[in-house]
Formats: sequence, structure tokens, C-alpha cells
Amino acid sequence: MSDAPGSGSNPLLDGLRIEPTPDPTTLVIFGASGDLTRRKLLPALYQLSRGQRLPARFSVIGVARSEMNDDEFRRQFHDSLKEFAGVEKADEVSGTLVRGLSYLFGEMDDPALYARLARTLQESHAPDGVLFYLAIPPTVYGKVVEQLGAAGLTRPSTPTGWRRVIVEKPFGTDLDSARALNAVLHQHLEESQIFRIDHYLGKETVQNLLVFRFANGMFEPVWNRRYIDHVQITAAETVGVERRAAYYEQAGALRDMVQNHLMQLLSLIAMEPPITFSAENVRDRKLDALLSIQPLLEDGAKTNVIRAQYSPGWVNGSEVPGYREEQGVSATSVTETYVALRAQLDSWRWAGVPFYIRTGKRLAKRTTEIAIQFRRPPLHIFKRVSPTPIASNLLVVNVQPDEGISVRFEAKLPGSRMQLAPVMMNFRYGSAFGSAVPEAYETLLLDAMLGDPTLFARHDFVEASWALITPVHEAWRTSGPAAIPMYEAGEWSPREADAMMAADGRRWRTL
Ligand SMILES: NC(=O)c1ccc[n+]([C@@H]2O[C@H](COP(=O)([O-])OP(=O)(O)OC[C@H]3O[C@@H](n4cnc5c(N)ncnc54)[C@H](OP(=O)(O)O)[C@@H]3O)[C@@H](O)[C@H]2O)c1
Repeated sequence: MSDAPGSGSNPLLDGLRIEPTPDPTTLVIFGASGDLTRRKLLPALYQLSRGQRLPARFSVIGVARSEMNDDEFRRQFHDSLKEFAGVEKADEVSGTLVRGLSYLFGEMDDPALYARLARTLQESHAPDGVLFYLAIPPTVYGKVVEQLGAAGLTRPSTPTGWRRVIVEKPFGTDLDSARALNAVLHQHLEESQIFRIDHYLGKETVQNLLVFRFANGMFEPVWNRRYIDHVQITAAETVGVERRAAYYEQAGALRDMVQNHLMQLLSLIAMEPPITFSAENVRDRKLDALLSIQPLLEDGAKTNVIRAQYSPGWVNGSEVPGYREEQGVSATSVTETYVALRAQLDSWRWAGVPFYIRTGKRLAKRTTEIAIQFRRPPLHIFKRVSPTPIASNLLVVNVQPDEGISVRFEAKLPGSRMQLAPVMMNFRYGSAFGSAVPEAYETLLLDAMLGDPTLFARHDFVEASWALITPVHEAWRTSGPAAIPMYEAGEWSPREADAMMAADGRRWRTL
């Protein structure tokens, strides 16, 4: 594995790019005045349009409570391109998109809003290929879908028409609320119409996991308990809670990161090969992997799950406050900003191979990676001439910021003596193919327009993940403020998380 030339022309790729284009689409964004729309959705639409990936007949109807007219919404579009896509001046691409933008405002539970939406849809370029995007607070998801159903907007009026709904995260706050939300959605929509976003699945490296595992004969034979010692999945952030305290106080790291993103990563590493690359086959096998995880509290919450909260410290050379001093956070908060857990899978492939997961805010470095550590060779035949212990082979999938894959193996140090040293072989997405890696939201918006749910979470996966996590929250709820360990901002992990690894004779990777 090595980087291919970083130029724009890679002869290996000639003729390989076959890009499907969606049918005519109207995208209806609920929450059009919000942060997600400005930061991610509008820039993603611009990039898709620039790459000629949008259908010829495409328009956007923004919906929110804030009073705005079409022109003001269009100005917001330009502002968001400037701020989040680096587009300084209106160009041909933004001009074409702008002509298809319109805006409606009203209360989300007011049937009159949906009557106006129905009329606006009738006048749009694509009245019967409609993608609704719920970029609104989670408490409103159900309300909007009920109103869409009551207004007859969840069913197409022609045989070739389609209606789909993208639901943002978080999907529920525990098992009961996730089940209740699924029940409301299923009253008005078929499962095939529901696209639950987990933006990690839109990342190229995450999709590449499937290709890496199932299109390469050399890795499959070693992808099991005989050759793999353990797996470490890390999602580390340097930022604190920022302006999201109101949400984060209720959520915490286990809900915010583990239940969704990190369980998705784990399932992609652990899943059995699907019989085809169809959405249902892939999602069936991912679900199997998730269902094979032993209950996290089986040995007591203390040993399998560690939570902690950051105290004041230094990050990237700046002094930062502790979590309890952040604006909007209670001075006695027990919300976890760090979680480490050990998942054991009851499956033929993985019996006895622990999957360690850790995620936290205000850690030493921003990085998300999956590290697969292989067993050592049975005998260290070089020990007399090169007495340092040999490092285990390691396969690291970098999810962000430098998307790619690295392999660590032992090599001979140059010179007359037989000395060993670990070396890395790297594949980098940014340079290997000579083209920009699309943003996750571009991929996911396009897939939803194409009707491909492979990279979206199915109802049973979401519920299975909550079923694992909810008992941990219940156990934590009963413990007092003194029960949460602290770690200094800028550190790598609390002592308790290191101790959990040490008890297994292992260590967290230093990144
Ligand atoms: N921002 C991100 O980067 C990000 C990342 C991942 C997931 N998400 C998810 O995406 C969704 C939107 O997040 P956001 O960051 O864009 O939030 P936001 O900035 O607060 O915007 C929310 C949008 O919904 C509308 N809204 C707010 N309260 C409402 C209510 N009670 N009833 C109806 N509409 C309401 C707001 O507009 P009006 O006040 O004008 O109605 C606004 O358009 C949330 O579910 C969030 O968890 C966001």
C-alpha cells in the first residue's frame, strides 16, 4: 500500500467514475433558519451542484418559525456559502441554486403550514419526488411527521413518485424514547422511506471499511480471533462543550458519541460478510454484530464502562475551564464528557477479542481512529540479537482528520547488526486519488435522493444500540456527584480508564 501520485490525473481511475444522478427532487428543509442548514446542508448542496450531481430539476423549500421571505432565505444561502464553503462571490452554480430556493414560515404543529407547503410543492419543479429533511430539535421530529401524514404529504400521488424523510441525530434519548419515535414514524411512513442520519457513515474512510474488508483477499483470512488481539476505537476532541451546554448536559458522551457513531464503527469492523452489497444485507449483518455484544453491565458498570468529566487544564497551549465552569453547565453536574468501555462480542469470529471504545472532550488531540492490533508471532527468534520486545502489527483506520489507512510492521534497521524497529505504510485518501474527498453530508444527501439507505441507520440498529446503553445510564443515575472521576483538560485519559486496560494487560494507544 502506498500513496498514488497526488496529481489530478490518476490513470488507474480512467473510466471508473460512474456517477448516478437522482430523479427530479424537491428538498424540503424543516429548520431552514438553523445552524445545521447553514453550516452543512446549504454548502453540501452547493458542492453537489458544482460537481453536477444534482438532478436537472431540483429545488429547495426552507421551512422554520422565523419570519423570512424568499429573498432573505436566499441571502442566508449566500452568507452560509461565504462562511462555510469559502465561496466569496455569487457564481453560476450558486445562481442556479438560488433560483430554486423558497421559504415558508409557521408553527410546526399548525396544519395551515402544511397546506401552504402542499401548494408550494405543487408549483415546484418536482412535485412528486420529495425529500423532507428534519433539521429541527429532536422534540419536534414526531410532530412534523404527524402533520406531514395528516396533510397527505408522506404518500406520492403518482406511481413513479416518492416521498422520503431524513431524520437528524439524536434519535431518542433512551430505548423507550427511540421506540416511541420509531412507532410515530412507522404510523406514517414505510421503513424504506426513513433515512436516519449518522454522519460518520457518510465519511469516505468509513465506507471504505466495507471495501477494505470485503474486496481484498489478503485481510479476510486474518480478520478474526485467531490473529487479532483486540480493537481500539478512539474519538477524541480537543474542544469543550462550546455553546451546546443545554443539549450536552442532558446527553453526555455516551449518548452523544457512543450510542450512534462509535457503535456504527464497531459494527462495520465486526460484521460478517453480507451476501450482497444491498442495503438490507449490509444492515442485517451490522445488526448481528451489535446484537452479539454482551450486556455492558454484566460484570458491573465499574469494570466495563468508565465515565469521567474534564477539570480545568491546558489544551493546545491555552488554559481552559473545567466542564462545571462552562457557561450553562450546573456546578454539580455529573454529565460525562469522557467514556471508555470494553465490549465483548459473543460471536464465533470475535469470542475473547475485546473491543475498547473511548471518546472524550478536551483531550490532548483531535482524532478519530480504529486500531486493530494483531497477535505477536509465536516466537521472538531475534531476541538474542535484538532484545527489545517486538511491537504488535497494527492496522489503523484514520477516520479524521487525515482520512486513510496505515499498517505498522517490524523492519530491520539499516546497518550491520540485526536490529528491529517498527515502520508504517500509509495510504492517504487526500492524495491517493487526486480528487477531493466529498463531505459526509454531500454523500448522504445524494444517497437519500437516490433512495439508497445503506449508509443510514435502520430502526432495529438504533433500538439495539439503545438497549445496550440505556442500562448504563440507569446505573449512573442513582450515583451521586462524587461518583464521577475527573481528568485534567489536555490529558489523554482518566486513571480509571488506564486501569481498565491495565487489568487486561493492555494499554491505550498514545496518539
Ligand atoms: N448543527 C450541527 O452541526 C448538528 C450536527 C449534528 C446534528 N444536528 C441536529 O440537527 C438538528 C438541528 O440542529 P441545529 O444545530 O441546526 O439547531 P438550531 O440552530 O437550534 O436550529 C434548529 C432549527 O429548528 C427550528 N426550531 C427551533 N426550535 C423549534 C421548535 N421548538 N419547533 C420548531 N422549530 C424549531 C429553528 O428555527 P426557528 O426558531 O426559526 O423555528 C431552526 O431552524 C438537531 O436535531 C441537532 O441535534 C446538528
